[in-house]
Amino acid sequence: MIIIKNLEQIALMRSAGHLLYDVLQYLAGQVRPGITTEDVNRIADEMIRKHGAIPTELGYAGYPKSICASIDDEVVHGIPSPNVRLEEGQILSMDLTLSLNGWQADSCLTVPVGEISQKKKDLIRVTEECFWTGYHQAVNGNRIGDISSAVQRYAESRGYGVVRDLTGHGIGREMHEDPSVPNFGTAGHGPRLRPGMTICIEPMITAGTWKVHELADGWTIVTNDHQPASHYEHTVVITKEGDPEILTLPDGGKGRQLL
Ligand code: MF3
Ligand code: CO
Ligand code: CO
Repeated sequence: MIIIKNLEQIALMRSAGHLLYDVLQYLAGQVRPGITTEDVNRIADEMIRKHGAIPTELGYAGYPKSICASIDDEVVHGIPSPNVRLEEGQILSMDLTLSLNGWQADSCLTVPVGEISQKKKDLIRVTEECFWTGYHQAVNGNRIGDISSAVQRYAESRGYGVVRDLTGHGIGREMHEDPSVPNFGTAGHGPRLRPGMTICIEPMITAGTWKVHELADGWTIVTNDHQPASHYEHTVVITKEGDPEILTLPDGGKGRQLL
């Protein structure tokens, strides 16, 4: 069941989203060779709690940490560890969900560790462009499949892989609500988008095959060919007219539309 939010509820989600933006920006500034993913986890956990919010990934389906920190061929759900020290040339995706006053926000950023290859720069850029391509389809009257097919076509026509085992999702009081928002699919299909729907658009794009598997830790998803992957996510609300508002950007996305 898709839960439409009213203006008051959207305002609460906006507050959660803007806090999450600040946390992610702060973390991005801390990422450098030599820091461990446990360090990043601790900084995030402390900052979230200091602002009266809850890191809702901690304990979600038994997940053991407050953030997901996925390096290179790790697509999503990398578990922070004091044994994982970031190295120059890697890319790190930081996927965070928090709740503030009972309302969730979910966003992910992939950042370079020091200097990275042109190939990894291109992968990060194309993944963000995939998001914006889907974002422009997330308008009143369109369908979920319009987002999905736009993302898929953008990535695949440029030779990139689109991960299928995981999808975007609705969000609200719960981290994961209906509908599912796949990054692949058919235009004109799926649930219709209506004002007040709050969804996470989160392309997971690979430099090689789209096929992935789970590691023995029961969480970390890696690419089968061990080519790098990138992930970019925002929480958005469908509006009456025009592009959605991005709840996890301070300006709602205005002036940030790259395409
Ligand atoms: N933030 C993730 C998402 O985009 C969910 C993380 S799974 C968890 O849906 F187990 F870490 F919570
Ligand atoms: Co997320
Ligand atoms: Co999400």
